[in-house]
Amino acid sequence: MRQWIKLVENVLIDETKGVGVLRREAQGMGLEVMYGEGFALVGGFRSGGASPGMVRVQYSIIDLDIMQELVSALVADGMEKSEAQRRSQEKSNVGTVDIYKDADNAIRAIIDIKLNAKNRKAGLGRAVIQSLVASAPQDVVIFDIRKPAVGFWKKMGAEFYKRGGAPVTDLKTHLVSTPKRSSMSAPHAYLQGVIRKPGSTTPFEETLRAVDPNAVFSVSS
Ligand SMILES: CC(C)(COP(=O)(O)OP(=O)(O)OC[C@H]1O[C@@H](n2cnc3c(N)ncnc32)[C@H](O)[C@@H]1OP(=O)(O)O)[C@@H](O)C(=O)NCCC(=O)NCCS
Repeated sequence: MRQWIKLVENVLIDETKGVGVLRREAQGMGLEVMYGEGFALVGGFRSGGASPGMVRVQYSIIDLDIMQELVSALVADGMEKSEAQRRSQEKSNVGTVDIYKDADNAIRAIIDIKLNAKNRKAGLGRAVIQSLVASAPQDVVIFDIRKPAVGFWKKMGAEFYKRGGAPVTDLKTHLVSTPKRSSMSAPHAYLQGVIRKPGSTTPFEETLRAVDPNAVFSVSS
């Protein structure tokens, strides 16, 4: 899917430093660019079904440092800046993040974040998640945390809950003792989480129900 490419032409690579909360710029048709420190989230394309009142959208993660470097090299070779930026899009697109937004365009939940293997472990995942949470009006739900990523979400300050909504108080025991799921179920769909805004005491169930009214709490998986 190349839809994001047109939007990247609008990315401002020179005005991005020092941003904690994302600077959001509407691009029309419900699409936007969200600027963080050294990166831009570009898109907002529908990426799946969502509960009532929510929309699930995907953004491409653009590494602005990579883009800046590529563009500078091409401009030094005599290329016009906008053309250089167009040519640099693909290589500076380092991953995707899927979120739920509500009717007010507010960030409410994170479904998935994926960086290319060679762009991991350099702080970008943290920067993207922290800015999304900083930009959200309330606690952010993290859906379907997969076991290999639990350590990352722990570093992000997430609290973990079983799919039934019960809190995971002892992560180590839970990770070890939970039986393997059958091959029919999603192999990694595992825990739900929440990253709280400073000072929030809203119960997880309330936060989860606000973004997914159909969440089931009777099952303790
Ligand atoms: C998970 C992911 C987005 C993290 O992004 P990243 O840029 O590599 O993470 P960062 O470099 O910002 O790391 C932040 C911290 O988390 C730690 N961390 C990152 N990935 C981790 C993992 N899989 N397990 C444990 N710790 C992890 C880092 O060591 C770092 O810790 P530090 O601050 O003490 O140094 C990325 O590794 C990825 O795309 N993984 C594959 C897809 C995936 O699992 N996504 C999550 C779906 S639920």
